Amino acid sequence: MYRREFGCFRSDFTITIFLLPAISLLFKPIIPLKIVLLPLKLDDKVLQINDKTFEIFIRKEEIQAEIASLAARLEADYAGKEVVFIAVLNGAFMFAADLMKQFRSPCEITFVKVSSYKGMNSSGRVDEVIGLNTEIKDKHVIIVEDIVDTGITMEKLFTLLSVEKPASLEIVTLLHKPEAFKGTHTPTYIGFSIPNKFVVGYGLDYDELGRNTEHIYQLKGETTH
Ligand code: IMP
Repeated sequence: MYRREFGCFRSDFTITIFLLPAISLLFKPIIPLKIVLLPLKLDDKVLQINDKTFEIFIRKEEIQAEIASLAARLEADYAGKEVVFIAVLNGAFMFAADLMKQFRSPCEITFVKVSSYKGMNSSGRVDEVIGLNTEIKDKHVIIVEDIVDTGITMEKLFTLLSVEKPASLEIVTLLHKPEAFKGTHTPTYIGFSIPNKFVVGYGLDYDELGRNTEHIYQLKGETTH
């Protein structure tokens, strides 16, 4: 009895110490690492931010493909011109970075914020561009936005930048909500026209959270794509 138990222990031990590593080595080349990582990847499908659950709306591959085509259009349209990209913080930081990597002609890039404070004009508020330390007079300026929704932010920025007398002023936005748009300057370059629903991710936030994702998400249950 004692011997059998010992024998049994020894065979379990042998399997654990010698055979399992050998088996895993044998199968390693034919079991791709992806299968092991798949359950982790599936977590990307849902994004929980505070009380809200979001699901994937535009996948990272679609986003990157669209950015490549936007960059190609911009390169062709601005060939031989002196271009200054002005990206609007915070939302456009990721889009601007990826767009710049695909836009291979020489260009400048700067980041601004649009701010509105209590002042003395007729509406009681004054708008200003914070962070514009680049000379844009006589240059070809392209505003880079993550999303143009009502278009109010873009309208303000467009007016403020026009005062500096750029040679041309156009807008490239990754997302546009035509149903919500009330502005007069429709973006010339639009990645995706989307329904009037709240989206988050890839720079866009919900309560300042969710900017650090590669996909764009929408509220779970809102089937719009
Ligand atoms: P506007 O309505 O076009 O002026 O957009 C103002 C700002 O609201 C945008 O720059 C975004 O930062 C934010 N925004 C508009 N729509 C969304 C959305 O669906 N998700 C997250 N942020 C949004």
